[in-house]
Formats: sequence, C-alpha cells, structure tokens
Amino acid sequence: MSFARICRKERFGERFVCFELEERSIASRARPGQFVMVRPGLEVFDPLLPRPFAILSVNADRFSLLFEVVGKGTELLSHLEVGDTLEVLGPLGQGFSLDASSGILIAGGRGLVPLVFLARELKKRGIPFSFFLGVRERKDLALLRLIEDLPRVLWSCEEAVSGGFCGTVLDLVGKCLERALWQGAKIYACGPEGMLRELATVFPGKEEDIEVALEARMGCGFGVCLGCAIPRRGGGYWHVCSDGPVFRLSEVVL
Ligand SMILES: Cc1cc2nc3c(=O)[nH]c(=O)nc-3n(C[C@H](O)[C@H](O)[C@H](O)COP(=O)(O)OP(=O)(O)OC[C@H]3O[C@@H](n4cnc5c(N)ncnc54)[C@H](O)[C@@H]3O)c2cc1C
Ligand code: FES
Repeated sequence: MSFARICRKERFGERFVCFELEERSIASRARPGQFVMVRPGLEVFDPLLPRPFAILSVNADRFSLLFEVVGKGTELLSHLEVGDTLEVLGPLGQGFSLDASSGILIAGGRGLVPLVFLARELKKRGIPFSFFLGVRERKDLALLRLIEDLPRVLWSCEEAVSGGFCGTVLDLVGKCLERALWQGAKIYACGPEGMLRELATVFPGKEEDIEVALEARMGCGFGVCLGCAIPRRGGGYWHVCSDGPVFRLSEVVL
C-alpha cells in the first residue's frame, strides 16, 4: 500500500464523490479497466478491509476515482477532504483491450467510471466510439459532466426528463443501433449485473466481442483471499481481482 493525498474533491449529484489523488507510480502505470484498493488512512480500522474502485482518469502524477456512497466504507471516504491521505494499492487487475477498430461503450450508473478512462484512451488513439450512459434517477444526470467533452454521447434516465430518453440504457442502445452499426465494433460495458447479462440478448452472437468490467466483493485485490471468485463458463472459477475485473462476456456466467 502507498499513500495518496487528496488534492481535489468534487461532488456529482447527491450520491457521487470524485477525488483527485497524488500518487505518481499508480498514475504512470494505470490502464483503462484497472482498479485500486483504498483505505481511508492508517488510523482507521473500521471497516478494516480496503474497498475496490476503478480508475476514472490519470493526469501526470495524479489519478482520479469516483465513487457512489452505498455503505460504511464509502460513507467514511465521502467525509474526507482535500489534504487528507488515503492508503492505496494498485493499479490492479486486467484492463480492457485496446485493439478495437471502433467501440460502443455502455455504462449503467457508476459503471461509467472505467469507461470514462477507456473513452479518453480510445480518443487519444483515434479509435471512433459512441458512449451510452444510463441512470436510474434524474439527480444522477450530474454524471454527464464527466463525459460532456466526448463526441457521440447518448444518455437515458429511468425517470422522465424533458429532452432525454426515458428507459434503460439498453432500451436506448436497441433504439439507436441497428445490427449493421454494431457488427464490426467492440462493445465495452460496465454496470449492474442484470444489465451485463442482457447484453447477450441485445447483441446476439457477439459475446466474444463484448468486454465487461465486473464488480465483486473483494478482500485483498490481488488473488490471495479468494473472496472474489465467480463461475467460469465451462467450469471452474475466475478471480475477479486478478483474472479480471474485465472479462469477455463469453468467459463468465452472470
Ligand atoms: C473492480 C471494482 C471496481 C469498482 N469500482 C467502483 C467505482 O469506480 N465506483 C464505485 O462507486 N464503486 C465501485 N466498485 C464498488 C465498490 O467497491 C463498492 O460499492 C464499495 O466497496 C462499497 O463499500 P461500502 O463499505 O460503502 O459498502 P458496504 O457497507 O460494504 O456494502 C453496501 C452495499 O454495497 C454492496 N457492495 C459492497 N461492495 C460491493 C462490490 N464490490 N460490488 C458490488 N456490490 C458491493 C453490498 O452488497 C451492500 O448492498 C467497484 C468494485 C470493484 C470490485
Ligand atoms: S479479492 Fe482476494 S482473491 Fe480476489
């Protein structure tokens, strides 16, 4: 574990907090889809275990995280301020492949985090992509600020919003994308498990070309505690932390 100072803090809507952290070795090595394990400083023992968070972006010797406040650990983190220090371990895991000729990025809620990093990398490499974001509630549309500079962003909200598409992100994808548009593209997705499972129906015959970033409860983050095991297609198990968190949809049972 190393120490990272919070140099910027920003809130997105009511539930999301973004930290920019100073830590050169993570910032210089991180790849889209990788994650870090985070604890709120040495003196804190409850919760004892670190929490996993995907890397949102990197900038010189800094990297950013964005998290949704859902429980004890994230609540504690949300009260930290600029100047406070976090314990961080990473970058960890296997990220997205970057060999696509074009990409379709599909994010549900906080699932946008690893896809924002990916989008910036694809843009840098001149690989065209569309970015679909779906949120449940109107207030979560604050997340759009993170991707407003990207080309071809489409969004949906499950609550009615004037000017917006009302429904799930996969309803939106189905409405906008005909087979001819997605056939040659690589699909990258992160979001709730139900959404990831449905991808196989929305893109029939495409499971080999769909990469999903998964979440799982994690103890260590590097293959030792075995707490993050998920079933492997064809038998056996994957460890989400070290074999993933990015998998081809064809490799996992969701
Ligand atoms: C590789 C990876 C990357 C992640 N990236 C992000 C991110 O960028 N932003 C973000 O907001 N969250 C991310 N998560 C999820 C995040 O780690 C959990 O929300 C966090 O650990 C919850 O901690 P807590 O103490 O606040 O909640 P707890 O009190 O531990 O749990 C609160 C609720 O969240 C659920 N939960 C807790 N941990 C997880 C988990 N790992 N996966 C799914 N559900 C969980 C619990 O079942 C419970 O319902 C990621 C998880 C993984 C494995
Ligand atoms: S989190 Fe410990 S083995 Fe994956």
